[in-house]
Amino acid sequence: MADIAERYNIPRQHFWLHGPRSRRPVEYDADAGMWNVYGYPELQEILGDPATFSSDTMRLVPKDLIPGGDEFSMAGFITQIDPPEHGKLRKLVSHAFTRKVVADLEPRIAALTHELLDAARDRGTLELVTDLAYPLPVIVIAELLGVPSGDRALFKQWADALFQRDTKISLAKPAEQQNVDLQATLKPWKEMSAYLAGHAAERRRQPRADLLTKLVEAEVDGERLPDDQVVNFAIILLLAGHITTTMLLGNTVLCLDAFPEQQDKVRADRASIPAVIEESLRLFTPFAALGRATTRDVELGGVTIPADHMVMAWLGAANRDPRQFPDPEVFDPGRDPNPHLGFGRGIHFCLGAPLARLEGRVALNILLDRVNPLRTDPGDPVEFMPTPTMTGVRRLPLI
Ligand code: HEM
Repeated sequence: MADIAERYNIPRQHFWLHGPRSRRPVEYDADAGMWNVYGYPELQEILGDPATFSSDTMRLVPKDLIPGGDEFSMAGFITQIDPPEHGKLRKLVSHAFTRKVVADLEPRIAALTHELLDAARDRGTLELVTDLAYPLPVIVIAELLGVPSGDRALFKQWADALFQRDTKISLAKPAEQQNVDLQATLKPWKEMSAYLAGHAAERRRQPRADLLTKLVEAEVDGERLPDDQVVNFAIILLLAGHITTTMLLGNTVLCLDAFPEQQDKVRADRASIPAVIEESLRLFTPFAALGRATTRDVELGGVTIPADHMVMAWLGAANRDPRQFPDPEVFDPGRDPNPHLGFGRGIHFCLGAPLARLEGRVALNILLDRVNPLRTDPGDPVEFMPTPTMTGVRRLPLI
C-alpha cells in the first residue's frame, strides 16, 4: 500500500496520519504551553479520571485569547462541564438520543441519501462532501432540533469560520504575539447564538415536537434551563451533530478507495458495514484531540504533569498506538474487538454516537449500491481540512 498520507497529500499538521514514528506517549510542548498525550493507555487514564483531568479547560485560557472575553458564556456547554453538574445536564438530553429515537430515523436517512444522490446523478458529477457527506447529517440534525434545514448554508458558513483554521493557539505567549483573529471566531459565534436564541424563544411561546422544545421545557432539579444554557447546548448539537459525521462519511469512502480489497469485501458482505465504520473511526479519527485541565500534579506515562496545565489528549494518535492496535496503519475492519477512542470514553462519551453510526451505516450501504466502484478522481485532488484537531476531507471528487 502506498503511504496513504503522501498519496492524498494530507497536510503535515495532521502529524499522526504521517506514518508510524516513535513518539513518547506524553510530551510537553513549550511553544504551545501544553502537554500532548499520544499513548492509548495514557488516554484511557485521562478519560477515566475526570477529577484529575477536568473538562473545564477555559479557566486556563487567558481572557485575551477568548473571543469576547468576559461576555463569552460557556454555560450549558456540556463538553466543558465536570461532575456533578455534568451528570444532570447529560441526563436531560440523553432521552433524546435513545436507541428508539435514533432507530426511527433510519427511513428518513435512507430517503435523504437517495434524494441527494439523485441530484448528483442528474448533474453528472459526484463530489462526496458537497453532494452527500455535508448535507445529509446537517439536514438530519436540523430536523431533530427543529430549525429549518433550508438554513444550512448559514450553518456551513458558521462551521467553516469556526473550524477551517490552521492557526495554533499558544498558552505560553501573550495574545498580541500570536496570529489569532478573535473577531473571526466571535462573529459567527454571536450570529449562531442569536439565531438559536430566536428559535428557542419561539418554542417557549409555541412548543413543537422537536429537540429544541425538549430543551426549553427540560428541568434540572426542578428548574428550567436558563436561556444561555439552552442556546449553548443547541449550538453543540448543531455543530457536533454534523461536522464530525461529515468527516466520518468522507473518511470512510477515502479508506475504501485506499484499500480497494476491503471495498470488494464489504460489497460482497454488507453485514461488515458496521465494522468498516468503526475501523474508519479508528484510522481517520474525525475529532482528533480533546482538551483537559489538570487539577493536581499527576504522573502519566512516566512524567509528572503539574496541576493547572492544559493536556491535549490525541485520540487520533492513540487510535494508532501499536501497543493496542497491531499494524495500526492498515485499514482492517476485521479487528475484533476494535476498542478505538473515536467517540471518546468515560462520562463524556459521545451522546450522538448511535446517530452517527446509523448515518454512516445507511449512507455507506446506499453508496455501495449506487456507486461502483467508489473511487477518487486521479485528476481532481482530495482536499483535507486544515485544522489539526479535525481529521476529515473537505473535498472528495469521485469518478
Ligand atoms: C461528545 C466525537 C457525532 C453530540 C463527543 C466526544 C467525542 C465525539 C470524541 C467526547 C468529547 C469529550 O470527551 O470531551 C464524535 C464523532 C462523531 C460525533 C467522531 C461522528 C462521527 C455526534 C453527533 C452528535 C454528537 C451526531 C449529536 C447529534 C455530542 C455531544 C457530546 C459529544 C452532545 C458531549 C457529551 C458529554 O460531554 O457528555 N463526540 N461525535 N456527536 N458528542 Fe459527538
